[in-house]
Amino acid sequence: MTGLDGVAALRRWRAQGAAGVRLGLVPTMGALHEGHLSLVRRAKRECDLAIASIFVNPLQFGPGEDFERYPRDVEGDRRLLESAACDAVFTIAPDDMYPPGFATYVVEDGPALPLEGAARPGHFRGVCTVVLKLLNLVQPFRSYFGQKDFQQTVVIRRMAFDLNVPGEIVVCPTVREEDGLALSSRNRYLTPEERPDALSLSRGLREAERLFAAGERRAAPILEAVRGAVLRAPRARLEYAAVADPTTLAPVDPVRPDDVVLVAARVGATRLIDNTILTGSP
Ligand code: PAJ
Repeated sequence: MTGLDGVAALRRWRAQGAAGVRLGLVPTMGALHEGHLSLVRRAKRECDLAIASIFVNPLQFGPGEDFERYPRDVEGDRRLLESAACDAVFTIAPDDMYPPGFATYVVEDGPALPLEGAARPGHFRGVCTVVLKLLNLVQPFRSYFGQKDFQQTVVIRRMAFDLNVPGEIVVCPTVREEDGLALSSRNRYLTPEERPDALSLSRGLREAERLFAAGERRAAPILEAVRGAVLRAPRARLEYAAVADPTTLAPVDPVRPDDVVLVAARVGATRLIDNTILTGSP
């Protein structure tokens, strides 16, 4: 696997080593798990070369969030990427990504506003800015994102469309633990006592799916199922539950197939998010 550290190394590789090939880009913040690797494998299948980026992006963390303690393990990440047959890994120092005097940001004013956007002001400005920079640097044929961060995929698609960014945005299914917990780098913050309560998010979403499959179309009972599951978990505190249009993220009522249920909760000190697309099939 080729290691590319910094903008200059990436640009050289892009122009020489990877000229004329279809690149599949998987942007990450590291602390990799099977969810990230599923994106790399998909990129391998669909492109000539897969390249992952690892950058804990300070711009997308708010004050008081976990930027400093976000798990970092670049050597472990490299081994995992090798095991998924990733062709290249791009790493970059913060002052290479954001040199002194950096003054240009990407602000998305639609689906970035509710939900995570309301709970984490400035978060999507940080995400959009870094993702557009990565897309400009790598110029991939396709880039791969996880449904786990549903709103992020909607915001990135909107940005890419609005700004005529070439290349395709591909969204891949959420990888879960056997018991349903969505894999997340932040799961490692959970204590053994908190771990069962972290399951309340996916449990609530499954209950919402069940209601919808049974014919329920009113938003209130569907949301009540999600809220109830989280409220019954003593160490979990609900931040929001919503049922929304999958492209605008505006609230919907009645609920239609392909609408999405989104939930955010704190379990102990750890903030978790999850979602499901309502298909109507059991
Ligand atoms: P990070 O949280 O490291 O996630 C990187 C990618 O992996 C994202 O597209 C995310 O949705 C996906 N992912 C995470 N958990 C997953 C799971 N359980 N199943 C499937 N995919 C999963 O998201 C970010 O980093 C950053 O915001 C980033 C896009 C890299 C910009 O800094």
